[in-house]
Amino acid sequence: MEIGIIGTGSVGSALARGFAAADHDVVLGSRTPTTASLDGHGWGEGVEVLGQREAAECGDVVVLALPADAVVEAAADLSAALAGKPVVDPTNEYPAATADRSLAERVAAAAPDATVVKAFNTVGAEHLSDPVVAGEPVTMFVAGEPPARETVDELAADLGFEVIAAGDLSAAGRLEDLARLWIDLSREHGRDVAFRLLRG
Ligand SMILES: NC(=O)c1ccc[n+]([C@@H]2O[C@H](COP(=O)([O-])OP(=O)(O)OC[C@H]3O[C@@H](n4cnc5c(N)ncnc54)[C@H](OP(=O)(O)O)[C@@H]3O)[C@@H](O)[C@H]2O)c1
Repeated sequence: MEIGIIGTGSVGSALARGFAAADHDVVLGSRTPTTASLDGHGWGEGVEVLGQREAAECGDVVVLALPADAVVEAAADLSAALAGKPVVDPTNEYPAATADRSLAERVAAAAPDATVVKAFNTVGAEHLSDPVVAGEPVTMFVAGEPPARETVDELAADLGFEVIAAGDLSAAGRLEDLARLWIDLSREHGRDVAFRLLRG
């Protein structure tokens, strides 16, 4: 699958490494593609760096790995390129915004012809391409409408996560709260912590 990832920071880079290692083709979208390419973040083979719009156009699935205060505007700006595609929102606001809707629902409103799926927001970036902590697989909670959510479920499983469907996009706010809890916990216990759902 061709995966467009907008943003070349900690999350975009980690997902690019993980998806490329799982034999997906990755196009990273950067505001400064020439500089980003030259930086060489150890993304591995199968990763190309283009502009944000080109990467959004190339991806069968597009991840918006952007700062929370930039993602809604970027989704609106790229909405034509995102139309008809699963669009993954891994972003988190910290502390919580006062908006009455989750960030993911605001992203969905900005790109109304895409199907937004909340995922990859409840774990530290260092475990996105290595989802094992203390020898245990990390759970990735995914919220959105099928079939887009199922596509993202498969991508998360390709990275090595234990995947749990967490409902439709109305559950995204709960995943954003869970991420804020992770941030608070990581300050006390360090970043090498993660959530796992136990089932009897
Ligand atoms: N870091 C984590 O452990 C972690 C884990 C889970 C979720 N998250 C969430 O995932 C999102 C991305 O996190 P991150 O740590 O990767 O952030 P980051 O390191 O700040 O990177 C975001 C990337 O977005 C691009 N960018 C920056 N400002 C922009 C703007 N104003 N408009 C458009 N593009 C811009 C930049 O790429 P270019 O310079 O190449 O354009 C930048 O490298 C955040 O919302 C964060 O809350 C983070």
